Amino acid sequence: MLVTPITPVIGAEISEVSLANLSAADVAQIKKLFLKHMVLVFRDQELNREQHKAFARNFGELHIHPSKRSAESGGMKREETRDQNLGQSRDEKNAREEEDPELFIIDTKLDAKQSNGEAWHSDVSCEEIPPLASLLYVTKTPENDGGDTMFANMYEAYDALSDDLKNLLMNKSAFHDGEIDLRNYGIRLKPGQVYPKASHPVIPVHPETNRPYLFVNGSFTSHIEGLAKWESDMLLEGLHRFVAASPKFQCRVKWTKNTLTMWDNRCVQHHAIRDYVGYSRYGERVSVLAEHRPHAFLPAK
Ligand code: SIN
Repeated sequence: MLVTPITPVIGAEISEVSLANLSAADVAQIKKLFLKHMVLVFRDQELNREQHKAFARNFGELHIHPSKRSAESGGMKREETRDQNLGQSRDEKNAREEEDPELFIIDTKLDAKQSNGEAWHSDVSCEEIPPLASLLYVTKTPENDGGDTMFANMYEAYDALSDDLKNLLMNKSAFHDGEIDLRNYGIRLKPGQVYPKASHPVIPVHPETNRPYLFVNGSFTSHIEGLAKWESDMLLEGLHRFVAASPKFQCRVKWTKNTLTMWDNRCVQHHAIRDYVGYSRYGERVSVLAEHRPHAFLPAK
């Protein structure tokens, strides 16, 4: 395996490996590289859906997106939606993709009004136990060479805060409300549908590296608990701007046909770039369940 870091702080291109034919030693090495670089890019991979999912299962059980879960399982899927004209919205389209609940389809048509994930976020942070990783396999890239994805290292975001701000945030929890994200896609829940909501520490500790990271994002976080609304709005707005305006802890991945990129959904945020209106892009994402909810970081005294 050849490892080429994308930046000193986040991302690596991994070549000379076939994800469909991994030895136990390869998997162990990829796990180490994943914790070190947080975003791993594997190009020229020939994978069918089962191989994509089998690779992801090396990291844990697969997550089922709330758009594919019934209300009883904390989701918005409704049987009757199959017969209705629901337009092109992301979650409704995924809810109609009956065949495989573990796959989240990212299919941006050339005339789509919106694409998936066009804001800094971590995937479904509104879940009680957000996924530990997402693995997106892009098989169709736009002919204008657009459609890159940006990634940001949230350990670095935390490290760069002042000690005063770290101390304030370390004791706080924030509320993550999936309906905020749905509204960004023009979706309102219908009677009987539900979508996850959860409270998480603003500064969790990564369960494998033991490093603290910043865990709030504009797509899901509604407020920091225990503060006046204006105080929470001020802090969240500042933190979101800080992440967006800090290229030194970001990297940008240019997709080529048949690239699989996996990211650590705990300590990484990502942002898809829609600079390809008039062209189409297609990918399939699977996410891996974490075992526990995020735990607050408690610094050693
Ligand atoms: C996402 O997972 O939010 C979308 C990423 C992408 O399409 O590049």
